[in-house]
Amino acid sequence: MHLFTPFRLGSLQLPNRVIMAPMTRSRGGAGCVPSPLAGTYYAQRASAGFIVTEATHVSAQSATTPGSVGIYSAAQVEGWRGVTAAVHAAGGRIFLQLWHVGRIAHATEALPVAPSAIAARAERRTAGGEMRPLPVPRALAIDEIAGIVAQYGTAAAHARAAGFDGVEIHAANGFLIDQFLRDGSNRRDDRYGGAAANRARFLIEIAAAVAGAIDAERMGVRLSPTSSFNDMQDSDPAATFGTAVTLLNELRPAYLHVVEALPGHAMAPPPGTARVAPELRRLFGGPLVLNGGHDRATAEAAIAAGEADLVSFAVKFLANPDLPERLRRDAPLNPANPATFYGGGAEGYTDYPPLPE
Ligand SMILES: Cc1cc2nc3c(=O)[nH]c(=O)nc-3n(C[C@H](O)[C@H](O)[C@H](O)COP(=O)(O)O)c2cc1C
Repeated sequence: MHLFTPFRLGSLQLPNRVIMAPMTRSRGGAGCVPSPLAGTYYAQRASAGFIVTEATHVSAQSATTPGSVGIYSAAQVEGWRGVTAAVHAAGGRIFLQLWHVGRIAHATEALPVAPSAIAARAERRTAGGEMRPLPVPRALAIDEIAGIVAQYGTAAAHARAAGFDGVEIHAANGFLIDQFLRDGSNRRDDRYGGAAANRARFLIEIAAAVAGAIDAERMGVRLSPTSSFNDMQDSDPAATFGTAVTLLNELRPAYLHVVEALPGHAMAPPPGTARVAPELRRLFGGPLVLNGGHDRATAEAAIAAGEADLVSFAVKFLANPDLPERLRRDAPLNPANPATFYGGGAEGYTDYPPLPE
């Protein structure tokens, strides 16, 4: 069993286990419509086992980040249709990552929303382009929650209408669902707060809505149990995420995507944190995708040891459109240019070269 052993994921046959991790590239146009270049960018990477797109807003309430993209309007669905057609024509498979930023936003006409009125001690780019500290968000009223849950179901249906093979629920990296999951950001005293099962309720309701809209076989879920990115903390990550995964299991998602970066990586758990991915692997009944700082050797080792079925790569896939082939041949990798990660045009997006023939 290794990175190039094919894998069956629901009804999809994956040619390899080298997954393209979701990456925000901030090149969306007016109305959060994907850039016309997005089809080229993703199609260049169609040799992935499957692609997970950049995080994509489920509603206008989330859509405050410059250059970000959505799946709530007809124009967005139309834009994505071009992307999925290009990827499928190139022989690939592609999932759309569903996003609500929650408190990781600046106030526009309205304050950003969150489970509780607790600001993330983090900075984010404003529409004007400067990095600024984030405001204290508005705590969601309990009667607003069902509406947001329903938006995920609608977004999933839109994703299928746009030609995606499935969706990935972004419950990682300190965005809205993660804000509900962890007790550092969720101090609610209603049925969405307190005990771990209550904090998981928002995620589980969303997963049920998505599974109801498009079938669980086409739904993945991304978690980052021990990452502190976006000022996240939890008093007992193993219990919080173990509970969430045990509940998710009942819905039989297509896969679980766990971000728990290897030591030395910028997104690695703070020093001294116990790893939770092995426990989630034990609890989850379906395929597991592992992410964070992997290279060919560490990915092969994780699959060989049974720690994961699939491994996802972000920065290496960004800079190497033919990453599976390069890993297979153990060929050199293009270095990535962080200056072109977010925003801009073709440079650093569609111009990373493949290996010469
Ligand atoms: C430019 C960039 C954008 C990212 N955007 C997202 C995103 O939209 N959604 C997400 O879940 N993770 C996002 N991430 C995190 C990556 O998916 C991944 O977890 C992280 O880069 C570690 O993987 P790597 O070591 O293979 O790069 C982003 C990372 C980078 C570098």
